[in-house]
Amino acid sequence: MITYQTHIKDISPSQLEGFFVGWPSPPDAEKLHAILSNSAFICLALDNDKVVGFVNAISDKVMSAYIPLLEVLPPYQGRGIGKRLILELEKQLSELYMIDICCDDNVAEFYQKLGYTKVNGMIKRNYKAL
Ligand SMILES: CC(C)(COP(=O)(O)OP(=O)(O)OC[C@H]1O[C@@H](n2cnc3c(N)ncnc32)[C@H](O)[C@@H]1OP(=O)(O)O)[C@@H](O)C(=O)NCCC(=O)NCCS
Repeated sequence: MITYQTHIKDISPSQLEGFFVGWPSPPDAEKLHAILSNSAFICLALDNDKVVGFVNAISDKVMSAYIPLLEVLPPYQGRGIGKRLILELEKQLSELYMIDICCDDNVAEFYQKLGYTKVNGMIKRNYKAL
């Protein structure tokens, strides 16, 4: 059974292995632990002790939140976990005016099904920082 939690208190980096699938320079589990620890809001999906999906939001906690990362481990995809992670995160963001996400074309429909609208986006990346 998959369980969900909105904090990282009892989670160690060893429970966060296997993410950033397909990234040329994937951040390691320690970095992911730091990302989640420093985020304003998170939700984790766990299969027993192993984290199998996560989402995070950075936020001013007044008006805006940005969702930089959402990932479900490949063997767990297609089971409603990604959708549930977004819905659990949105519960924490319910008082905010704007929730923004940048995504590739191949995931746009996933977000559209959850009520998100396509807009133009501008990004800048520092690949040396990974
Ligand atoms: C995108 C991702 C998080 C989806 O998670 P998931 O657990 O497989 O998705 P779910 O099973 O919750 O799917 C929910 C719904 O979205 C649909 N869906 C899932 N992925 C989709 C996609 N890439 N394109 C279109 N629809 C998609 C499902 O069919 C399902 O539809 P339904 O409610 O009509 O049955 C997952 O595929 C993933 O981790 N991908 C790699 C990382 C990534 O691309 N993250 C997004 C970064 S912005």
